[in-house]
Amino acid sequence: MRKLLVTGGAGFIGSNFVHHVVAHTDLSVTVLDLLTYAGNRASLAGLPEDRVELVVGDIADAGLVDDLVAAHDAVVHFAAESHNDNSLHDPSPFVRTNLIGTFTILEAARRHGTRLHHVSTDEVYGDLELDDPQRFTEQTPYNPSSPYSSTKAGSDLLVRAWVRSFGLEATISNCSNNYGPRQHVEKFIPRQVTNVLDGVRPRLYGAGQNVRDWIHADDHSAAVLTILERGRAGETYLIGADGEKNNREVVETILTVMGRPADDYDLVKDRPGHDLRYAIDSTKLRTELGWAPRFTDFATGLADTIEWYRANEAWWRPQKSAAEAKYAELGH
Ligand code: NAD
Ligand code: TYD
Repeated sequence: MRKLLVTGGAGFIGSNFVHHVVAHTDLSVTVLDLLTYAGNRASLAGLPEDRVELVVGDIADAGLVDDLVAAHDAVVHFAAESHNDNSLHDPSPFVRTNLIGTFTILEAARRHGTRLHHVSTDEVYGDLELDDPQRFTEQTPYNPSSPYSSTKAGSDLLVRAWVRSFGLEATISNCSNNYGPRQHVEKFIPRQVTNVLDGVRPRLYGAGQNVRDWIHADDHSAAVLTILERGRAGETYLIGADGEKNNREVVETILTVMGRPADDYDLVKDRPGHDLRYAIDSTKLRTELGWAPRFTDFATGLADTIEWYRANEAWWRPQKSAAEAKYAELGH
């Protein structure tokens, strides 16, 4: 394997993956990214031009995707519409990109016999009660709640069907909530960090009790690379780092690290259909493929991430007012 096609490589996790691949392998990478509001050319800045190329285009463009897939040894598919709140406002780009886009990639991979890794989310499994001792495993039935998670669930099922029906050599991973550098300011952690930098109080939905299972984006990237290199075709692997925290705890840590009183936040209108808790059991990935997270202390990883936003205002500032204007419309 020499040449990787990475869809969505100018987004949050995709760009972290491209940085990871450049640092840890000698592969060359072509990024296919539409540069939607969530994509940012600056997220690929500083990478060697002889190893990383950006093609601006749509994963639902069958001709373009066919040409690119034909010219690469493997595809890692991150591109998606990725934000739940946006999906509640307008589901249409979610159906188009997450379903039609994934279908377009599958058909090209089938034609050319190309290895595919499909990146997905634990949100396909729905949510857990706060006191449920079970966590999600590869056997948990799909039960998605939102237009975002249901289109991701649909994309996973398409991949499974292409494996079974056409013998496509594909793997799937379902990961928990990521944090780290280059995450769009619409998402929970960057929104609150940049609010505090702007002197604005963080905003928690509902009572702030919802639990997410946080993992650093670099640990997610290492897991995806491990699966690409050593995963068994047709298999699904759950990726998680035992990082369960409720939203209140996350905001209190952000405020404390940033030198503000821990209770300096507001409770705002809840998200409709808001999933209560996600939690991942990643035993299969750890025991079969030997992956383990490096960022095991959330407070330290979060402090590094806060530092990144402090040092890289030029990266996030252009998106901040549009993201907050969308939230004002939604009452959040
Ligand atoms: P993101 O929104 O930051 O990035 C998505 C990227 O895809 C952007 O660069 C965007 O320009 C690009 N894109 C969107 N539509 C496109 C299209 N039609 N054609 C080509 N490119 C297009 O998302 P993210 O948070 O980096 O998520 C990446 C992947 O990881 C998604 O598949 C998501 O479901 C999955 N995931 C995310 C998380 C998380 O916590 N963010 C957790 C688990 C899984
Ligand atoms: P988010 O980053 O949107 O990820 P997801 O919906 O995929 O889990 O939100 C993470 C959690 O934070 C979720 O429970 C919703 C909550 N949240 C807030 O409390 N306030 C906010 O301003 C945002 C954006 C999210």
